[in-house]
Amino acid sequence: MSNPPLKFVRVHKHDGISWVYLNRPEKRNAMSPALHVEMDRTLEELEVDTDTKVVVIAGEGGNFSAGQDLKEFFRGLEDKPAESKRMQEIANRWRWERLYNYDKPTIAMIEGYCVGGAFMQLLATDFAISAEDATFSLSEVNWGILPGALVAKVVADAVLYRHALYYGCLGDAFDGKEAARVGFVNRAVPPAKLEADVTELAHKLMAKSPAVLRATKQAIRQVRTMDFGQATDYLAAKNAAIRLNDPEQSYKTGIHQFIDKKSYKPVYQPFPLGSMITDQSKK
Ligand code: COA
Repeated sequence: MSNPPLKFVRVHKHDGISWVYLNRPEKRNAMSPALHVEMDRTLEELEVDTDTKVVVIAGEGGNFSAGQDLKEFFRGLEDKPAESKRMQEIANRWRWERLYNYDKPTIAMIEGYCVGGAFMQLLATDFAISAEDATFSLSEVNWGILPGALVAKVVADAVLYRHALYYGCLGDAFDGKEAARVGFVNRAVPPAKLEADVTELAHKLMAKSPAVLRATKQAIRQVRTMDFGQATDYLAAKNAAIRLNDPEQSYKTGIHQFIDKKSYKPVYQPFPLGSMITDQSKK
C-alpha cells in the first residue's frame, strides 16, 4: 500500500540534494502532529533513497519553524495521553534519533523564525547555515514551560554553558550573526546568498567518499561522551572498519596518489571519487 501524498512537508530533489521543507507557511511552520508524522516518514525514505546524497532541512515561505504547534501539539493533546505519548515519540524520533544518526550528510538552512522545539532539528543536523537576519529564540520560558523534549539537553551540549543558560533562561530573540557567534550554526550569510551557500556546502560534501564521511561524523559524535581510552580504541576500530567498508578505497588510493604518483594534495582537494586503484594498476 502506497503512502498518502505529503501535505505538511515538501520535498524537492535536485542534483543529489533533497531539500525537505516543513510546509505550513501560514503557521510559520509550527510543527503539528501531522507534520511530525510526515517528517518522520520522509526522512526514513530519503535515508535509503539512491538519488539523495545530502538532505537539507528548511522551511517553506521564509521561516525555518516557529517550534511545536502550541494549539495542536500542546493543547490539542492535553487530554489524550496515549496519543500524546505516541506523538512525542514520533516528534523526538525524527528531530533527534533519526537526524542525529543519519547515514547521509544533513544541513539545516535557517531563515525567518527558528524557535523552541525547532532547536532540536537545528542541532541534530550535521551543519547549519543561517541568514544573518534570521530570528532565533528559546521562547519556552516566556510562556510557562522549560525547553522540553530534548531541547535543553541539546542546547547545553551544543554551546558554552553560559550561552545555554542565558538564552534558555531569558528567552531573548537573537539573530543569525549571534547564532553563529555562540555556535548554534556554522555561519550566517546575507539572506540573498543563503541557498547558494547551502548548495555549495552540499556539493563539497558530495565530493567526499560517502563511507568515510559517514564514519567521520559518527566518530565525532560518539567520542564526545567517551574517555580517552575508549576513544582511542573506538577510533582505531572505526578506521579499520572504513578500510573494509569504503568501496572507493580512498585510503589506499589517496596514499598512492600522494606518495607514488605525486598527483594530489589532500589538504587542498578531496580524494577524487572514481579514481580507485586496484593492486594491479598500482604496479
Ligand atoms: N504554534 C501554533 N501556532 C503558531 C505558532 C506556534 N508555535 N507560531 C505561529 N503560529 C500561528 C499563529 O497562531 C498564527 O495563526 P492564525 O493566523 O491562525 O492566527 C499564524 O501562525 C501566524 O502567526 P503570527 O503570530 O500572526 O505571526 P508573526 O509573524 O506576527 O509572529 C512568531 C511569528 C513566530 C513571532 C509568533 O507567531 C510566535 O511568537 N509564535 C510562538 C512561537 C513559540 O513560542 N514557539 C515555541 C513552541 S515550542
